[in-house]
Amino acid sequence: MKTTLTLTLGLLAALASAQAIPAEMAPFAWSRGTLDLIASGDAARGAEIAQKEKCQKCHGDTGIAEDDESTNIAGQVPAYLFKQLVDYRSEVRESRDMKKAVRNLSLQEMADLSAHYAAQPPEAPAGGVEPPTMVTEGDEGRLLIGCNTCHGKNGQGLGFEVPALAGQKGAHFNETMNAFRDGDRANDRFGRMRFIASQLSGEEIAAVAAFYAAPPTEEAE
Ligand code: HEC
Ligand code: HEC
Repeated sequence: MKTTLTLTLGLLAALASAQAIPAEMAPFAWSRGTLDLIASGDAARGAEIAQKEKCQKCHGDTGIAEDDESTNIAGQVPAYLFKQLVDYRSEVRESRDMKKAVRNLSLQEMADLSAHYAAQPPEAPAGGVEPPTMVTEGDEGRLLIGCNTCHGKNGQGLGFEVPALAGQKGAHFNETMNAFRDGDRANDRFGRMRFIASQLSGEEIAAVAAFYAAPPTEEAE
């Protein structure tokens, strides 16, 4: 009886410590340990790692990409950034560029990079566009709630896992929404974004993208 109890307690302790330090995290799991690890991210160390790993080549010096090929990551929600880096490493989210970029990173380094980019000022949206009703109200008929309900009143991101949308590159916004719709991006927990994107037309996606996005880098002819 006593042995069983000791064994049980030992097993519980082992489980608890396994949870405290997420080892590989594939598939990604939110846990107290994950949140603690993200909170331990050191922005100054992250800046050094970014330099060393040449993240600026594609994401600009402060996380604002110089062209529209890449994405903005400045001012992004840190836990979202961290989750994406883990997802690229486990290839739950596929990108040739990003798979290479995260190849040598430890989880602690990912947390440091996330703290660094989260601390950078985001790019401002182009502005001058009224929010589409899809952003503010959604569409009950299609079981859609407004994007703002999850992404924040000003698209600044919310909670620990919902990314900021305001100031994102329009090209990436459209591309990733289409990827959610076609199932090519499938790293959203519970399939929420896949469901939402599957309900929207190309025009609706373009309209919300135009509302949230930063101005295009190259002036349209
Ligand atoms: C060779 C170019 C390149 C390099 C170098 C690179 N990235 Fe990326 N990154 C990209 C591209 C392209 C995407 C968008 C891919 C996609 O659609 O999934 C991306 C996406 C991301 C995302 C997800 C953004 C979002 O909005 O979901 C994060 C976070 C990120 N990169 C961080 C980094 C960090 C940190 C480094 C350095 C360790 C880095 N990247 C190096 C090209 C690059
Ligand atoms: C139920 C909550 C919820 C609603 C409503 C919602 N989203 Fe999301 N969205 C999320 C979550 C969570 C993620 C992060 C997925 C992941 O982990 O990769 C996300 C990610 C995204 C991304 C990827 C950002 C990037 O940088 O790559 C875009 C774009 C996006 N949402 C657009 C929208 C739009 C447009 C709407 C409204 C039509 C919307 N979302 C409504 C929860 C929501």
